[in-house]
Amino acid sequence: MKESLIIFDTTLRDGEQSPGASMTQEEKVRIAKQLERLRVDVIEAGFAAASPGDFAAVQAVAQAIKESTVCSLARANEKDIAAAGEAIAPAERKRIHTFIATSPIHMEKKLRMSPDQVLEQAVKAIGWARRYTDDVEFSAEDAGRSEIDFLCRIFEAVIDAGATTINVPDTVGYALPHQFGERIRTLIERIPNSDKVIWSVHCHNDLGLAVANSLAAVLAGARQVECTINGLGERAGNAALEEIVMAVRTRQDVFPCDTRIDTRQIVPASKLVSQITGFPVQPNKAIVGANAFAHESGIHQDGVLKHRETYEIMRAEDVGWTTNKIVLGKHSGRNAFRTRLAELGITFESEEQLNQAFARFKELADKKHEIFDEDLIALMSDEGVSGGHEVERYRLVSSCFHSETGETPKARLVIAIDGEEQTVESEGSGPVDAAFQAIEKLVQSGAELLLYSVNAITQGTDAQGEVTVRLSKEGRIVNGQGADTDIIVASVKAYLNALNKLLANRARISPQV
Ligand code: KIV
Ligand code: ZN
Repeated sequence: MKESLIIFDTTLRDGEQSPGASMTQEEKVRIAKQLERLRVDVIEAGFAAASPGDFAAVQAVAQAIKESTVCSLARANEKDIAAAGEAIAPAERKRIHTFIATSPIHMEKKLRMSPDQVLEQAVKAIGWARRYTDDVEFSAEDAGRSEIDFLCRIFEAVIDAGATTINVPDTVGYALPHQFGERIRTLIERIPNSDKVIWSVHCHNDLGLAVANSLAAVLAGARQVECTINGLGERAGNAALEEIVMAVRTRQDVFPCDTRIDTRQIVPASKLVSQITGFPVQPNKAIVGANAFAHESGIHQDGVLKHRETYEIMRAEDVGWTTNKIVLGKHSGRNAFRTRLAELGITFESEEQLNQAFARFKELADKKHEIFDEDLIALMSDEGVSGGHEVERYRLVSSCFHSETGETPKARLVIAIDGEEQTVESEGSGPVDAAFQAIEKLVQSGAELLLYSVNAITQGTDAQGEVTVRLSKEGRIVNGQGADTDIIVASVKAYLNALNKLLANRARISPQV
């Protein structure tokens, strides 16, 4: 029997710390449910003390998830730990992850605390966290640049105080694989009570080494890896879950451990996170990039046809790549619609919600005869159908666009604001610009447009366009999504969706400042 490698997913916490990747509560619950289908062991649902919204999101994930352990991050202080403990209370399995910085530069310049004070605070934090759960993780922030003697001292003390997982983060992505592996080996060897805990790593990707460093640590004895879907995370991101899992699974000849991940859920998880955050996956990204299993050169194609393993070390279907299948069409009934969505992990809270979504599906099926899974997912994420808890202050009622060679493009929109319909017109350099200017004329949000991107959800000219609009205002950044067979309509929906989120998304604090 191989040992277990625990997969700790932090897409909803560290992933969400990437500028522009903020998610609503409903989006977090959807991602958490997909992570549970993926059989992730621990889901870090957020940083409960960041804001009331973050607290509610952690709590909602704790209520929704039954199989995976639900975790909240907390700085090493009583208030943060209480917020974390209360937010995860509804979970079947719960963990508090508390941390404090241990590198000389962080202790001196950021915390303005001596090493002894840091150690004392860390030990107290474990005691506070143990009031809420027996499953307590301690992280030494910036461990990659911390002194090994101090790490040994603080880790020994927090293990004695009751920590059950010790996490060694390479917070700034500075480590090199051979050094990082050696660091983990040394800690495990030197700390007398190291056998009482699971050793974990959390690597950032500033030098593109997050996955390599994490794997080196696993070979040195770490039995938990913290990672994110698509490698989302602060700055250059975290170690990519899909790469860690598939490296360990594919190279069982080298690794003494394996994960319990259902790898067929990897691509659906990647698509969901990309769609919700508006962070596209590069085509040549390992495992989840569109070209990851595409063979272009004749020699490779010939080889794969003769014997797949000549050029493939993994099977596309094992990580969840499927050929687009027509799943539903114009004549499909409510039951088929509900069943297929349930298979995709999307359920309804009420019959009324199902009816609304089904009506939207019928509208789409009138315009587009073949409805794929991707269309259904986009339809469900589309504003107003998501069953989310966002306030939907602005809603598109109808639109008219004019674009003709030699003429200035124009847009006329009817938008319901708090239920009251208003009409607005504007010109622009193109129909999308005209539409966005019309919205701003009416709403006067003053938000700055940071990103506008359009993606075809499936193939063919009748495909739905999925638009992401990223807006920023007063330091807050949100993503709006909209999908429609008409990309200008999709653009308007995305802009309004972003505005609705901007209203809902209140100020929060970051854990690491
Ligand atoms: O990168 C980091 O150090 C973190 C910790 C809070 C674990 O995200
Ligand atoms: Zn991190």
